[in-house]
Amino acid sequence: MTTPTIELKPSSSPLSDAEREAILANPGFGRHFTDHMVTIRWTEGRGWHDGQLVPYGPLSLDPATNVLHYAQEIFEGLKAYRRPDGSVATFRPDANARRFQASAHRLGMPELPVETFVEACDALVRQDEAWVPAHGGEDSLYLRPFMIATEVGLGVRPANEYLFVVIASPAGPYFAGGVKPVSIWASEDRVRAVPGGVGDAKTGGNYAASLLAQAEAAAKGCDQVCYLDAVEHKWVEELGGMNLYFVYGDKIVTPTLTGSLLAGITRDSLLQVARDLGYESEEARVSIDQWQADTENGTLTEVFACGTAAVITPVGLVKSARGEWQQSGGEPGEVTMKLREALLAIQTGKAEDTHGWMHEL
Ligand code: PLP
Ligand code: COI
Repeated sequence: MTTPTIELKPSSSPLSDAEREAILANPGFGRHFTDHMVTIRWTEGRGWHDGQLVPYGPLSLDPATNVLHYAQEIFEGLKAYRRPDGSVATFRPDANARRFQASAHRLGMPELPVETFVEACDALVRQDEAWVPAHGGEDSLYLRPFMIATEVGLGVRPANEYLFVVIASPAGPYFAGGVKPVSIWASEDRVRAVPGGVGDAKTGGNYAASLLAQAEAAAKGCDQVCYLDAVEHKWVEELGGMNLYFVYGDKIVTPTLTGSLLAGITRDSLLQVARDLGYESEEARVSIDQWQADTENGTLTEVFACGTAAVITPVGLVKSARGEWQQSGGEPGEVTMKLREALLAIQTGKAEDTHGWMHEL
């Protein structure tokens, strides 16, 4: 595999310091983008080439570009944090790079070398470092690497040209209410992914397919949809953009990776962080019946969602066709908040990085 170097072509008109500071004061999520982006091309027979760090701006695509029709696209999400000494580090970028390769494989796309993925993220963060929010809060710089099929033509087959891009966006809380518990609609008819499908790949089609269910959940007064397995409509899988954890006193349990849910890096990290804090953690299949029954009999004490964008978000209320129930009195649970604090402390450099997860630039 070729590993291209990334040539620097800096923006001649970046935002002024005052404009950037105004955005960083209230970044929201995914609303503002930094001054630059990285692009790398792949062409059949040539491999990866033309790595560039260029001014952020529109991509020009022929209307017959393959991705616009058949959705051969994958993406990632990871964050860069400002540490107490002012330096910047990203959280487990190698894990995102490996998942990006797995998604590429599933979508019939070329695999970007791990070191090129990490170097592309580093190059962008280095160039736009002023966009990494100050240490102290939870704000970060969210990186969005993605790859699209750029071959022009309407033939349905893996394309012979691709474009890899990394953009960056300063990020505050994913949910406008901060750590306020979210409400969940547990859908027993709409499914997100099927066995043998693409549920474990981070590809745009999974998100497109979730939007109607999300709108239906909103109409029922819920913030998010929880998907059940597509065969028995019984086993809890995940939310549209987050994994789930169930807290049983001193034990946290997350649904087993069956192939139709995304292997979240936050999910994986929490299996370890929980053990570090003296809790037990395990992967297991959890049914919607068990979720309801164990909440009602008091053994299931808290539920939370987790992901890069959402960090750890408590679940306060569950609604489903079978009725509704409150989770931990509708308040953020104690274990949820301890795990949240411990994970963020590692990510923001307040706590020691004992697992070698932080990647310094
Ligand atoms: N599940 C889905 C469908 C997601 O989109 C995400 C977000 O990336 C996650 C789970 C959580 O994954 P991670 O913790 O790697 O961000
Ligand atoms: C992330 O957490 O990085 C995601 O991709 C989730 C997305 C719904 C914002």
